[in-house]
Amino acid sequence: MQEPLFGSVDEVVERLAGAGYLASTAVATTVFLADRLGKPLLVEGPAGVGKTELARALATATGSELVRLQCYEGIDESRALYEWNHAKQLLRITAARDEAWTDTRDHVFSEEFLLPRPLLTAIRNPEPTVLLVDETDKADVEVEGLLLEVLGDFQVTVPELGTITASRRPFVVLTSNATRELSEALKRRCLFLHLDFPPAELERDIVTLRVPGLDGRLADALVRVVGALREMDLRKAPSIAESVDWARTLLALGAEALDEEIVQTTLGVILKYRSDQRKASAELRLERVLDSAVS
Ligand SMILES: Nc1ncnc2c1ncn2[C@@H]1O[C@H](COP(=O)(O)OP(=O)(O)O)[C@@H](O)[C@H]1O
Ligand SMILES: [Mg+2]
Repeated sequence: MQEPLFGSVDEVVERLAGAGYLASTAVATTVFLADRLGKPLLVEGPAGVGKTELARALATATGSELVRLQCYEGIDESRALYEWNHAKQLLRITAARDEAWTDTRDHVFSEEFLLPRPLLTAIRNPEPTVLLVDETDKADVEVEGLLLEVLGDFQVTVPELGTITASRRPFVVLTSNATRELSEALKRRCLFLHLDFPPAELERDIVTLRVPGLDGRLADALVRVVGALREMDLRKAPSIAESVDWARTLLALGAEALDEEIVQTTLGVILKYRSDQRKASAELRLERVLDSAVS
């Protein structure tokens, strides 16, 4: 067993905060358990709620190297695991005209001609590593088989080189926007964390942390309006990323409070569809949202 990274749930909260990430107790507890149990952490939730950032902050908080595998449609083993440097192999073969073929072959399938991709890089890294498999749901189902294999025993077999086993297990974070269900088998291997839009108080703290200099009352108002927008039936509800962008915008404009005019002129920062903007313009009752009693 490897030394755990964190001594307690509180320590997770503290160290993540030190890395600029404000985690709820639920988030911190799941991180703590993933570390203790040595299990990959699967973080699912809508875009912009801090899934990728959690992995980044974990790396910073633990002094680990972040190795990121960004998934996309059509990603395959050669992009995720490793591939051979064919161009370099060809050059080597051409240069070795007088050499026996078996010697050349052994040579071109050696370390020198291997191009490690994120999964292999993470497994081989002797230093502490956070492996981020980002937007796993964008990859084809076959890639999940590969992930299962690699995350199962943390080893990779390169037929020409042999089996490479992790000397130190990376902390693995998989993220998914849930555009499709991941396989049961993959889910079973992971600890599951659902991230959603945070409660208003936490979001205000995040915004204030990310945008120093923002007035506290303005931050409050902003978070309330964003909350009200999320309750509308929009094509794309504003996420934490948009709240932060909006806060930066308001600060740059020197706005002191939210009024109809400033909301209308900056709506494009938080709503990215024309139809959502129209709906918000028509339905948002700014005064009512801002007047509602502070709880
Ligand atoms: N808990 C948090 N603490 C601090 N910043 C956060 C938090 N959650 C989200 N953010 C902010 O929101 C932005 C978007 O988060 P990101 O991780 O890119 O979203 P996702 O990967 O879920 O789409 C980040 O750049 C960060 O500024
Ligand atoms: Mg992300």
